[in-house]
Amino acid sequence: MIHKKGTLELTPEAMQEYGYQVMEAIVQHYTHLNEKKPVALSSREEMDELFLEEAPEQAASPKEVLQLVLDQVMAKSTNVAHPKSYSFVPGPSNFVGAMGDALASGFNIFSGGWAASPAAAELEIVTLNWLLKIFGFPVKKGGGIFTSGGSMANLTAVVTARRVKCGDDFSKAVIYLSDQAHSSNIKAIRILGFRKEQIRIIPTDQEFKFGVNKLKNAIAKDRLEGYQPFCLIATAGTTNTGTVDPLTELAKICKHEDIWFHIDGAYGGAAILGKDGKQLLKGIQKADSLTVDPHKWFYQPYEIGCLLVRNHKWLKSTFTEKPEYLRDVEGNTSEINFYDHGVELTRRFRALKFYMSIKTFGLKEFRRAIDYNMQLAEKVEKKLRKSAHWEVISPATLAVINFRYNPIDKGFSEKKLDALNQLISKKVVESREALLVTTILNKQVVLRMCLINPRTTLQDVEETLALCERFAAESMEK
Ligand SMILES: Cc1ncc(COP(=O)(O)O)c(C=O)c1O
Repeated sequence: MIHKKGTLELTPEAMQEYGYQVMEAIVQHYTHLNEKKPVALSSREEMDELFLEEAPEQAASPKEVLQLVLDQVMAKSTNVAHPKSYSFVPGPSNFVGAMGDALASGFNIFSGGWAASPAAAELEIVTLNWLLKIFGFPVKKGGGIFTSGGSMANLTAVVTARRVKCGDDFSKAVIYLSDQAHSSNIKAIRILGFRKEQIRIIPTDQEFKFGVNKLKNAIAKDRLEGYQPFCLIATAGTTNTGTVDPLTELAKICKHEDIWFHIDGAYGGAAILGKDGKQLLKGIQKADSLTVDPHKWFYQPYEIGCLLVRNHKWLKSTFTEKPEYLRDVEGNTSEINFYDHGVELTRRFRALKFYMSIKTFGLKEFRRAIDYNMQLAEKVEKKLRKSAHWEVISPATLAVINFRYNPIDKGFSEKKLDALNQLISKKVVESREALLVTTILNKQVVLRMCLINPRTTLQDVEETLALCERFAAESMEK
């Protein structure tokens, strides 16, 4: 089976057999996804029991290793594409994208520089241009980069903003974000070494939107105290509630104050493809930089995040280094070396899956799926509002909805409701029938559904709500 000792190669026949088995497993996974359980529950002890060992010195049969992986690894991972996987931001993915990733790994394409892979760099340029156009950014002047995910895109944005607005001296620089901004933003800010007094977390209003008046007050006070307001991070689709910050108003403030305007649209930005997206995301085109994650609501497999910028030169001036060993591969100015646009030098060919799936399905199919997701969340909201057991806490927005079990005839205290909803989530997850976890809104424990999976039907949600009601009834009987 092994071709020649010391080459780490299999014979062509063995590769073929192995490859078919892998492919068959993936096809079976997509075909029978719905019949599996969405939740994987295993303790560290159970996992250690299965896998913990010293690195083996001796070879094993490729077939046996593969079987172990298929039986124990794949089966014991959360099925984030399952129709009843509602939590966090699910990963619906798509088969064509997965095959794109397989090709990118199979050929091990280096997607760092033009000279190494001109076609890979060109496809990144082309797909970024598609996104620039979709989001109303200037295509010629604008630019961007594909990253591992939204966290890396947000980090790349803040590094660029700081470089462009502050140069080398950022000792007085101040950055603004709301209390609903995703945690990756504050992580990025900390990674970059900002001190506590340089970070302003602005409270949101009742609808979880950036508090504009509070922001204006904070900026004015900072100016009086000699600080340099340099960057504002707004969110287009907060992770908790799907809320879009008042982008046009924030853009105006940033322009007036000479502040970099970053929008984190990691999950919500994709809604721009839907019928109502343009209206909901009005003002998104005014950002200096925008995070959008193809591996969320553009249905791509992990990992592909993206940062778009209004001016590609900003990335180049922030990230270019010219070591002597890359002298010969610099190329001419129109040939982009993406290692000069971001943190990574060696990069996988992320653009390929995006390119292949958009070419294969056409944007129309993506629009259809996104509209379906938004409409499903609205139907769920309607259903919950008609029930005497459920209370909607935050309405369906960009396919996210928050609600809690609160039977009107019972008059439960807030404390009791918190405990009850926490218990419902725990029981549902333990049953492994659905991945439905809680979040906190206005100090209340609520159940949150992110319905960006086109496989999820209203019936799936109804079944999950019925399960919740059963667990609630059981707990109330006790
Ligand atoms: C609004 C927002 N920004 C950033 C992120 C981080 O993205 P990633 O998990 O791809 O790093 C998320 C993840 O859910 C998100 O919802």
